Amino acid sequence: MNLTGKKILILISGGIAAYKINSLVRDFVKANAEVQIILTPSAERFVSPLTLSTLSKKPVYSQFFSDNGQWNSHVDIALWADVLLVAPCTANTLAKMVNGLCDNLALATYLSAKCPVFIAPAMDLDMYQHPSTLQNLNKLEKYGHFIIPAEHGELASGLIGQGRMAEPETIFKTITCFLNSKNIEFDNKKFLITAGPTYEAIDPVRFIGNHSSGKMGFALAEEAANRGAKVTLISGPSSLQIEHPNIEVIRVTSAKEMYEKVFCYYDQADVAIASAAVADYAPKEIAKEKIKKNDEVLTLELVKNPDILKNMGQRKNNQILVGFALETQNEEENAQKKLVQKNLDMIVLNSLREPGAGFQKDTNRIKIISRTETIDFPLKSKSEVAIDILNCIAQHLNNNH
Ligand code: CTP
Repeated sequence: MNLTGKKILILISGGIAAYKINSLVRDFVKANAEVQIILTPSAERFVSPLTLSTLSKKPVYSQFFSDNGQWNSHVDIALWADVLLVAPCTANTLAKMVNGLCDNLALATYLSAKCPVFIAPAMDLDMYQHPSTLQNLNKLEKYGHFIIPAEHGELASGLIGQGRMAEPETIFKTITCFLNSKNIEFDNKKFLITAGPTYEAIDPVRFIGNHSSGKMGFALAEEAANRGAKVTLISGPSSLQIEHPNIEVIRVTSAKEMYEKVFCYYDQADVAIASAAVADYAPKEIAKEKIKKNDEVLTLELVKNPDILKNMGQRKNNQILVGFALETQNEEENAQKKLVQKNLDMIVLNSLREPGAGFQKDTNRIKIISRTETIDFPLKSKSEVAIDILNCIAQHLNNNH
């Protein structure tokens, strides 16, 4: 089982079955997953944070503030996770989750999470059969969560019945199968993604550039790679770093370099996404020495850079080709034109007029325009926008092949 790159968040509540989480954590780590653990205050009485942090190789949190005064952001931890597991989930934690109570870090993190949630309840047999518990489990299923049912057997009370937390192997298999089934969507598909700005040299120390951070392209690369794609990410100058077994990052500086690298990979690609903010023009000559400020007016002669995306459209064989359009006026009309002129399958329109969208921001508001439809999305984080874009691409791949 390989869970490389997968991020698993485990919330442990205060039941005797908590001791079984040690072996579950070890199995996830052995499968190369990253594991973050949060304990409810009562769970701390059943398990040792030291053991769990040693096994998970990460600090274990239980309070909003650590002893050194550091705030443990439940939002950051929640958004980090690919999957959230509550195990063991006591009747008390279950009821609080259903009702949105958040009087501890674990519950606040649960409420902030957007990833799939798995729940492994554990309690005595009569508690498990109580109508309120059954109703609570039912409600969580309606929220879209997955219940890993409690098993039948000997309970901590000495009674025998249903209520034992599912065995760690069962939980491990359930989550692994889920993550791997999500993985195969783009299995064996080759993605080529351009990202970031380009810098066009004026002289040895100056350039023409733009404010693109590369965040959108990097988020697309990560999401595609998490779904099993082999990604070549060709990025202009960006401070972002990414390490993923499915991603090869190629750094370039100018549009010409980006163009050359793109066409080393384009023919083999199944999907190409041009999210880079390529400079349209570059200085005709690059001064060999630093330009001195001798004159009152300095004129730079600029020449057009190759349009990388347009060239990809012209050389298209079987690729699904996705472009971006950044417009400030007649947005949809201009994007439609680019879709046709550049021979694209889809164009992602972002408008600089939208508050929260655009360069250097963590959020984006997009429309995805294809030959047959236009879908308007609300303002979202760039990683969520990446999910929307890749969902559309997945649909396109399914329809075409
Ligand atoms: N693009 C490209 N190579 C260029 C310019 C743009 O590959 N030299 C790609 C971008 O990555 C983006 C799309 O083309 O996917 C549209 O970029 P945009 O700047 O919105 O449009 P342009 O085609 O440059 O047209 P204009 O600046 O006139 O709006």
